[in-house]
Amino acid sequence: MQSQSQSQGAQPFLSAQGMRGGYGKADILMGCTLTVDKGQIAVIVGPNGAGKSTAMKAVFGMLPLREGRVTLGGEDITALSPQQRVRKGMGFVPQTHNIFPTMTVEENLEMGAFIRDDDVRQTMEQVYHLFPAVAEKRRQAAGELSGGQRQQVAVGRALMTRPQLLMLDEPTAGVSPIVMDELFDRIIEVARTGISILMVEQNARQALEIADIGYVLVQGANRYTDTGQALLADPEVRRTFLGG
Ligand SMILES: Nc1ncnc2c1ncn2[C@@H]1O[C@H](COP(=O)(O)OP(=O)(O)O)[C@@H](O)[C@H]1O
Ligand SMILES: [Mg+2]
Repeated sequence: MQSQSQSQGAQPFLSAQGMRGGYGKADILMGCTLTVDKGQIAVIVGPNGAGKSTAMKAVFGMLPLREGRVTLGGEDITALSPQQRVRKGMGFVPQTHNIFPTMTVEENLEMGAFIRDDDVRQTMEQVYHLFPAVAEKRRQAAGELSGGQRQQVAVGRALMTRPQLLMLDEPTAGVSPIVMDELFDRIIEVARTGISILMVEQNARQALEIADIGYVLVQGANRYTDTGQALLADPEVRRTFLGG
């Protein structure tokens, strides 16, 4: 239903159109376009160095764009800072340094709620409900947790601002297949509450399984865009990007 409304011309919830930009003078993004509808899971895959993390930074406002435009809920946010985008409903879990390791789990979640001045306890309980293993370790330093649990803390921290769009850069990096499946299940659960997900994944096959829309990014540009299922079924995509 979501993608229907998109094809009927209604604007997607997140729309990042024709992004061009990079570091210094060199462009990394070469006209990259990403859209996500309400409650949809969008997955970006592609080779190392393709610009996936750069695209996420651009959507979040950490990278100035030379061309292109980002809208959220129909509002042009291209000129806004990351902090302003958080206030508009974006949450971002970067690929690295996404927790404060010496602070407790609970302090990490409190830090996540930095823009809020209302009572955050209910949201915190929701995060603990979503990630029970993390709840048990709420008084422990986050850096002492397992890799999978640290990723859960990072996702939980981003949920503390009650985002409408949750952006995740390789949330399953370095975790076991079981922990990966579990994390994907939790991400599906989050999407079912109406939150849109924009996620970069190295575990391309598994991530495309749960993707409403998938993007194969190569050299900063969209190479393939389709439903996750269609990309998984495409012989060319399989051969070139999914290892056969
Ligand atoms: N902070 C940076 N400064 C300069 N170049 C960078 C920086 N971050 C990434 N790059 C370069 O941008 C390109 C894309 O990187 P990245 O977006 O991290 O790719 P991916 O996430 O797809 O692996 C690479 O060539 C990388 O070396
Ligand atoms: Mg990356």
